[in-house]
Amino acid sequence: MNTDNKKKGYLTITFGCQMNEHDSEVIAAMLEKMGYSAVEDRQSADIIVVNTCCIRETAENKVFGLLGRLRKIKESNPNLIIAMGGCMSQQEGMGKRIKERFRYVDIVFGTHNVNKLPEFIAQASEKRRQVIEVWSSAPEEMEDIPERKVSGPRAWVCIMYGCNNFCTYCIVPYVRGRERSRNQHDIVNEIKNMVGQGVKEVTLLGQNVNSYGKDLDSDIDFSDLLVMLENIEGLERIRFMTSHPRDFSDKLISTLSESKKVCEHIHLPVQSGSSTILKHMNRGYDREDYLRLVNKIKGSIPGVSLTTDIIIGFPGENEKDFLDTMDLVRQVKFDGGFVFVYNKRSGTPAAKMSQQVPDEIKSKRIQDLIAMQNEFTLESNEKEVGKVLEVLVEGKSKTRDDRLSGRTRNNKLVMFDSDEDLTGKLVSVKITDFGLTHLGGELVFLSKDH
Ligand code: 5AD
Ligand code: SF4
Repeated sequence: MNTDNKKKGYLTITFGCQMNEHDSEVIAAMLEKMGYSAVEDRQSADIIVVNTCCIRETAENKVFGLLGRLRKIKESNPNLIIAMGGCMSQQEGMGKRIKERFRYVDIVFGTHNVNKLPEFIAQASEKRRQVIEVWSSAPEEMEDIPERKVSGPRAWVCIMYGCNNFCTYCIVPYVRGRERSRNQHDIVNEIKNMVGQGVKEVTLLGQNVNSYGKDLDSDIDFSDLLVMLENIEGLERIRFMTSHPRDFSDKLISTLSESKKVCEHIHLPVQSGSSTILKHMNRGYDREDYLRLVNKIKGSIPGVSLTTDIIIGFPGENEKDFLDTMDLVRQVKFDGGFVFVYNKRSGTPAAKMSQQVPDEIKSKRIQDLIAMQNEFTLESNEKEVGKVLEVLVEGKSKTRDDRLSGRTRNNKLVMFDSDEDLTGKLVSVKITDFGLTHLGGELVFLSKDH
């Protein structure tokens, strides 16, 4: 708890994807502008902002658990403001549920009115009443993202909001709204500003970055945007996520193969290896389309690493469908994969589909798939041993502070010993060992900017 003559403290707690991480950075910037400063622990915060996720039920349960625990902190510090934002807030009826079950939550805001948080804080602290304000869609005139202070050599940059795809299992289009691309000049200016603050690598974010620009008046597309960003002096690396296989054009593949700055890693969620299931998921491609795309990408971008998301146990998934998924994974040999058990999200078409797969079958299938993917991840990591790779140093390793950690261009985490703090530098590391989650190596020499 802070006294009046001290700066007030804020804490953001983030669940879910990189888009939420990004939004929390924007929220942090707004709070700093209001005079708050970051604190590490809940007890010393004057405001706690919980940025929520609802992609699966487990994410929601974590948020409810956290809100329950925050009650104690509110009891010992009645002036604490608790705000809840993000995708969960945006779900129908959530405001009412929070009002009834968590009366001590002061503010509930949605994904379309993050910029209004300072006003809501003022209302909540002056009037001491619950402020519940969630907009059902984005305003016509979008305000651009407020300027952020960045720390470290990497930053998230949101290039578009929302999703038009309506995959039948997914709640995102309902809570994030339709696709809205940011103006290309705003994106360029934001990145230039970040580079001025020491950023070397940006990750462009959107639910489907490949459809960037389709809603803009100009005829710019995602490839054109990448070419514009390539020209920013001082920017060393560009990453992007997430790509939708249906919209991954030949033009984009050739842009990637020619680019010096765009890193050789593509996150390309396949979701299933069965054409029948893909159709029921409304993904807009079949298994052959996906395999063809992978072959084109691998043939054009040497050293590219591919990662994916897969859902197991989508309604109607039978043994043959599952074996098709196993077979696709075997053919592609992904460098890494995230496998999820299908989770019913109310309001989505798949939630009403018959033939929901029993839990025991889902859990057996996910175990088999994860075991196989782990083999391929290990195989892919083993191939790096002996190579000298460029690593952008992010800081001290979380597990041992005499080690530094950073990522290769193909997005592998590398740990290595160093007496000197090389955070923010691009260095060359000889890979000496490997595991499932990271590579180990030795510093060879300091490259480029040292
Ligand atoms: N159940 C399980 N996984 C899901 N995903 C999205 N919706 C669901 C759901 N209802 C997964 C997809 C997506 C990733 C971010 O989350 O694989 O790519
Ligand atoms: Fe969800 Fe599909 Fe949109 Fe991805 S592309 S956010 S899975 S609806």
